[in-house]
Amino acid sequence: MELSNSTASTTALKPLLLLLLLLHYLSGSAAFYIVSDAEKIPESDVDLLEFPLNLEYLEAEFFSWGALGYGLDRFAPSLTMGGPPPIGVKKAKLSPFMKDIIAQFAFQEFGHLRAIKKTVPGFPRPLLNLSASSFATVMNNAFGKPLVPPFDPYANDINYLLASYVVPYVGLTGYVGANPKLQSSTAKRLVAGLLGVESGQDAVIRALLYERAMVKVIPYDFTVAEFTDRISYLRNKLGKGGLKDEGLIVKPAQGAEGRIRGNVLAGDKFSVAFDRTPEEILRIVYGSGKENKPGGFYPKGADGNIARSHLDDVVNYDLLNT
Ligand SMILES: *[C@@H]1O[C@H](CO)[C@@H](O)[C@H](O)[C@H]1NC(C)=O
Repeated sequence: MELSNSTASTTALKPLLLLLLLLHYLSGSAAFYIVSDAEKIPESDVDLLEFPLNLEYLEAEFFSWGALGYGLDRFAPSLTMGGPPPIGVKKAKLSPFMKDIIAQFAFQEFGHLRAIKKTVPGFPRPLLNLSASSFATVMNNAFGKPLVPPFDPYANDINYLLASYVVPYVGLTGYVGANPKLQSSTAKRLVAGLLGVESGQDAVIRALLYERAMVKVIPYDFTVAEFTDRISYLRNKLGKGGLKDEGLIVKPAQGAEGRIRGNVLAGDKFSVAFDRTPEEILRIVYGSGKENKPGGFYPKGADGNIARSHLDDVVNYDLLNT
């Protein structure tokens, strides 16, 4: 009697249990959709996704000002998140063809800033030094002597392309380096997508320069190819990560399959893109060879947890010595 009673009550409960399970399942899956992308991403992925904002801000401002004479403050002020305006950036003297391409790059960079900030919180635009003298300093360091007159990135198509050779490629190597460290598929998808377009930009810049490889960069006694060679050599030296950078014309042993001098795209011995760590990148864009010594394009340093962690080292060091 008792047994049949309990069986009956269990049978009666079954539909209710099923309903409860169903409700639980539905609310669970609903909660999954409410969670934003940022909350699904582990903290290490957030740091690795935020780091490239430093370079994307620089490229957005340099390309936008270069082609259009204005930057984020005019076209997309909310993207600056209140960060200070860049120093010394200006409109370049570009042919209509070059202006068209660079304007496209500019708006692509705005998109990249949006894509990253849609996924992670991000940080305000860091202080950027994009003055002509900032680029002139890079060129002087690349040649190991002052160029006379000082290199002016904004003077003409060739100079602007050479200045564009200086930074975007570094961002590209950063995306290649970040990818294997990422855990979430959201972050991997984003980095692959950013890398695709950044390498496309690099290919366009390099192809346009390659077309002019043997042209002298007036008024200097160096060709376009020599400039790219020197800049790449400088970046290898500052980055301290070995050979990860190659000019437009190389020794055959360094070209694809070790058998060709033309080097319109850089790559390792398997023609696979080189990778760089955030620290290597900071050493290069600070121009100091040290990830804890800001300068160059970032007078007050880059932002985000990775870059800040190295700047904190300096603060602690200073405190210990006072
Ligand atoms: C910008 O860079 C140039 C060249 O290195 C330097 O002379 C100038 O002082 C820098 N400006 C700021 C505000 O850091």
